[in-house]
Amino acid sequence: MAGFRVSDLISSRRGESTELWGATINPQFVRVLKTIGFDRTWVRGEGAYLWDERGTRFLDLIGGFGMFNVGRNNPRVRAALVEALELDLPGSVQLGTSPLPPLLAEALLRRAPARLERVLFTSSGTEAVEAALKLGRAATGRSRVISAEHGFHGLTLGSLSANGNPEFTDRFGPLMPGFERVGFGDLEALERELRREDVAVFLVEPIQGKGVHLPPAGYLEEAQVLCRRYGTLLCIDEVQSGLGRTGRFFAFEHWGLEPDLVPVAKSLSGGFVPVGALLMSKAVHERVFDSMEHAFSHGSTFAPNELAMAAGLATLYELDEAGLVAGAATLGTRLLELTMPLVERYQVVREVRGLGLMWAVEFGEPASKRGAYRLVERLQPGLFAQFVVVPLFREHRILSQVAGHGTPVVKALPSLTVSDDDLSWFAGALDETIAKAERVPRAAAGFALTAARIR
Ligand SMILES: Cc1ncc(COP(=O)(O)O)c(C=O)c1O
Repeated sequence: MAGFRVSDLISSRRGESTELWGATINPQFVRVLKTIGFDRTWVRGEGAYLWDERGTRFLDLIGGFGMFNVGRNNPRVRAALVEALELDLPGSVQLGTSPLPPLLAEALLRRAPARLERVLFTSSGTEAVEAALKLGRAATGRSRVISAEHGFHGLTLGSLSANGNPEFTDRFGPLMPGFERVGFGDLEALERELRREDVAVFLVEPIQGKGVHLPPAGYLEEAQVLCRRYGTLLCIDEVQSGLGRTGRFFAFEHWGLEPDLVPVAKSLSGGFVPVGALLMSKAVHERVFDSMEHAFSHGSTFAPNELAMAAGLATLYELDEAGLVAGAATLGTRLLELTMPLVERYQVVREVRGLGLMWAVEFGEPASKRGAYRLVERLQPGLFAQFVVVPLFREHRILSQVAGHGTPVVKALPSLTVSDDDLSWFAGALDETIAKAERVPRAAAGFALTAARIR
């Protein structure tokens, strides 16, 4: 392969990435990046940090939307991938088995409640959710699916039909029939739907990623009781909250749940290789894959992918060896300690919340001097949060995100390898940024107008 080197290619096209991305992938995305000043080309990642072309280091609190629990370019996972490549593994045989997929399935099930006994691999989170919906329908002989308002489960058509956010669903209809939503936390509405005994699956995130909303006390436990009572399968979507993110391997462990279906993805391969998995009860599996004729009822060409399996096994090993799950609990507590005082300090800070390293700060109209806040929010709901995210990036070299369209919430999903010092860096920068943003300087109003036009 003397003629082709990735590094030569990258250096020969240095400085072109953003324009080329716009021309070949998505010009509107590039417009957004330029408007908010996020149009850097990233050239290196390590742990919780990113480096741009100029060699400036940033603290990454987006974490690839939560796919780098073990940190970017984790050395153990990378070594496993290099080794797997050097082993000349067979790759997908399709009509045959190979060693790694059942080993990763076994490793995942070992960490799950006894009720979960089978694994179906996919290549993404949305595909794992799609599998839950399809298999749930076949296993129950029912067609309806209930999900929660503002839930996010992916953007392919089945997952999208369960999505509770019009900014994702509008323009893509008609969505799948039989999908309905109830309020997150509304047990009465849930029971009203389940009582009809035609609901195959209740699909819910244990902590809603959009806005980082934690479940009300007792909600998930009671939802499970209702599901069992009315013969509905409980699907807890752990795509974002799983793999140690909240200080437990699965977030549902905080509430002692035993779901029937559990999609995971994102961090499962250390962020290196597309991967997803649906953990399910044997009862569900056996009702769908009930004969040799039905042995191929669901699957996809690339899943299970052997590199994803090798990376997945190394990721689980790393989570254990480096104590990252317990570490996430400790760091999460520290992050709340550092940021909770902001609620007292600033009228515009309504709430700081989180579990483990799934964290958010929510803004709201201040009690006094409301005019500026109202002006900004009238231009675009949730815009105030951009007033925080942009200076965090430009002035403090911290990459964070608004937690959903029109949401006045800034969110963090850092790598679980983040340090105590990083959290102090973030808390200090946040304090300074909110103090400035609360005053909404004149210059910011100009930014608001520009940002409002990019919608
Ligand atoms: C809770 C949840 N479910 C499903 C998905 C979809 O995963 P993917 O983007 O891998 O399709 C996401 C992605 O953010 C998610 O947060």
